[in-house]
Amino acid sequence: MNASRDIRIQGIPDTVPEPTAAVCRSRLLTAVNKLIDETGLDNIRITVGDASSFSSFWENINLPGRGDSNQKNRDPELSPEERAKRYEAQQPIFTFKQLVIPEEVEEDLLLAVDLIRLEFKVFDEWGLRKIEPFPRTALNFHGKPGTGKTLAAHAIASKINRPILVASYAQIESMYHGEGPKNVEAIFLAAERDNALLFIDEADSLLSKRLTNVTQGSEQAINSMRSQLLICLEQFRGVVIFSTNLVENYDKAFETRVRNINFPMPDETCRREIWKRHLVEELPIAEDVSIEKLAQIEDVCGRDIKNAIIDASMRAARQDKEEIGISEFLDSVDRIKKARINVTSEPMQLTPKEKEEVAEKVKAAIAKKEQETTS
Ligand SMILES: Nc1ncnc2c1ncn2[C@@H]1O[C@H](COP(=O)(O)OP(=O)(O)O)[C@@H](O)[C@H]1O
Ligand SMILES: [Mg+2]
Repeated sequence: MNASRDIRIQGIPDTVPEPTAAVCRSRLLTAVNKLIDETGLDNIRITVGDASSFSSFWENINLPGRGDSNQKNRDPELSPEERAKRYEAQQPIFTFKQLVIPEEVEEDLLLAVDLIRLEFKVFDEWGLRKIEPFPRTALNFHGKPGTGKTLAAHAIASKINRPILVASYAQIESMYHGEGPKNVEAIFLAAERDNALLFIDEADSLLSKRLTNVTQGSEQAINSMRSQLLICLEQFRGVVIFSTNLVENYDKAFETRVRNINFPMPDETCRREIWKRHLVEELPIAEDVSIEKLAQIEDVCGRDIKNAIIDASMRAARQDKEEIGISEFLDSVDRIKKARINVTSEPMQLTPKEKEEVAEKVKAAIAKKEQETTS
């Protein structure tokens, strides 16, 4: 009967680029977890697969744009130190001066900075590591895209005078079996080598709940990366910051090790400040441009504002205009809002009654399938 409980979810087409694919996987995982929770089906085997589940496929086809797709990069025998050479820290490019966030969030960030700075003194010199071997200096910045998470990670690195090593989930994940966990180990080694703050971007899939009922395929690979991540987090004496957009279902193990800091969409006061700071001095702005009016436009993040300013400027320059008027800025904001793929919109919540109905339907469908295969 087991076979009939094998559900294969054909996941994300190969044409979907990372990190969109990573976001999709994270959502799929969450949905599947919910399905398991809500149906109470414990004897179910689910494989969420994308093309990378079929290794023979990957071995023959070399798609551009996927991290490790180049056969040259494949080297399972590489020592962790050799592998770590692929990652290199850089000097931070932003400071707290550039970051516009509500005061409470800034306080949270500064507190985190203090914890980082004082960790050695309190936990090593003052011996508190005897009672708390793993103080929580790992942070998770979560919030919608373009709200300043990357900027803030650079700002913290500047503040503590360290380089920053930026790695994204897409870079760490490897389609080659067993290489994902090795890449996780390698980035931690590289961060230690460069005494750098480690920033892991797009970490949704890494921090979300581990699937308990997985068969072979890409989800098993993600599970082993998560286990490796936990090991590295415990051993690492440095600062790790994760960045996530929409983790709905944190793995318990990470919940206790990582401090969450939420990056909200900017309110009007923050938007005014972000517009001001991005409308640089040299920009020829027409007299009709009112920052007050621009700040009133809702549902835009810092990145939208930055992109709108660049877009409006480029358009004005192409039309040989000497200045950029308010209508150009307004048009650009409009265009950007329309073009935005809203991956972060809240998922539709089911009412308890609807949930029950869904659970019933799933159970009925599985029972039917089971009958079909036995008859
Ligand atoms: N809170 C903010 N304060 C100031 N600028 C911001 C803010 N959020 C976004 N920006 C602008 O948008 C750009 C992209 O933001 P980023 O930090 O990459 O967002 P995230 O990492 O959250 O997706 C920044 O470099 C900056 O120009
Ligand atoms: Mg970012």
